[in-house]
Amino acid sequence: VRIVVAGFGRVGRTFVSHLLDREEQLRLESGVALRLVAVATSRSTWLPPEHAEPAPLRAAIAAERFQRLPGRHEEWNAEEAIRHVEADLLVEATGGDPRHGEPATTNVRAALEHGLHVVAASKGAFVHGRSMHDLAARRGLQLRVGAAAGAALPTIDLARYALAGTRIESVEGILNGTSNYILGAMAASGSAFADALHDAQVIGAAEPNPELDVDGVDTACKLVIIANAVLGADIGLDDVPVHGISGLEPEDLERAAARGRTIRLLGTLRRGGSGWQARVEPTPLPLAHPLASVSGFEKGISYTSDLMDRVTAIGGRSDPNGAAAALTRDILNLVAVLPEGLSSPAPL
Ligand SMILES: NC(=O)c1ccc[n+]([C@@H]2O[C@H](COP(=O)([O-])OP(=O)(O)OC[C@H]3O[C@@H](n4cnc5c(N)ncnc54)[C@H](OP(=O)(O)O)[C@@H]3O)[C@@H](O)[C@H]2O)c1
Repeated sequence: VRIVVAGFGRVGRTFVSHLLDREEQLRLESGVALRLVAVATSRSTWLPPEHAEPAPLRAAIAAERFQRLPGRHEEWNAEEAIRHVEADLLVEATGGDPRHGEPATTNVRAALEHGLHVVAASKGAFVHGRSMHDLAARRGLQLRVGAAAGAALPTIDLARYALAGTRIESVEGILNGTSNYILGAMAASGSAFADALHDAQVIGAAEPNPELDVDGVDTACKLVIIANAVLGADIGLDDVPVHGISGLEPEDLERAAARGRTIRLLGTLRRGGSGWQARVEPTPLPLAHPLASVSGFEKGISYTSDLMDRVTAIGGRSDPNGAAAALTRDILNLVAVLPEGLSSPAPL
């Protein structure tokens, strides 16, 4: 499987590093060799020689740049690399504000139009409706977005595989580790939101710009991605009322605790008469609720279906290692369903 990686940031580099470290294990598990044929950033693309030595690539990963690697270098961004390079699969790991959707949307569309399967860690292409899923289906191509929707926490795979054949009625998720960490710190120490956020930033538990995390947008993105990928929905961020945690006072958490509840930033999806209703808001959960035990940086998701009742998953690493491993997991599961190895896509 010839792989183009778009984005050589924390996730892209970690993914490439996993490919190097686990080459043999992955070949045995998937029955195919996973081969890197291009790595692209916003300004340039590296095309490795067929039997590239791993040492220079490891050095480039450590140095966070591939400019001096042996092989061909082109002044292509990821979209140009996708259109020029012979490949089978795109790993989409570019940055950018998911609300605006770029550069991920352009890259994913280019890949599907060009006949590449897609595995994505970025969210931007999937938060404004299900058009990419529809395009993939029309082309007979696989599109996997588990790494974008909780990464190591198997939000999508739980629904797709473990609940197959049931009718999912509702979904509840604590889908953002940073806001869960901050709420935990506020509850434990009685500190104000701003102080808990500052402490989290000092220890690296929150980004310098945590807006998307604490305002609930990251949670809303993941909910929308899950709904469009496995619940048959066609929704976008504009359909989701979102309230974050920055307005919470320590007294709110104390009052909840006095009533035997714990406040969490909860994303919910409920099946309604007119389709799926999504929302994100701080929610007091009874301590007996399965997601009430999600602690620190952890995430969790709980599905309720007609035949299997409530099924919950909790945990998974919330960092580039977890995200890169989720990309690899999605590639292995994708390769496993291809009829006879890689088949030609249907015409556009
Ligand atoms: N970090 C995590 O733990 C995590 C977990 C799950 C999902 N994700 C998602 O995974 C994606 C990557 O995250 P990250 O932490 O690796 O971000 P990052 O460190 O900021 O890296 C982003 C990469 O995207 C590249 N890029 C930007 N515009 C591009 C374009 N037009 N074409 C090709 N490459 C472009 C950047 O290259 P330049 O330097 O040239 O701009 C950079 O290499 C994000 O969408 C993020 O939301 C991250």
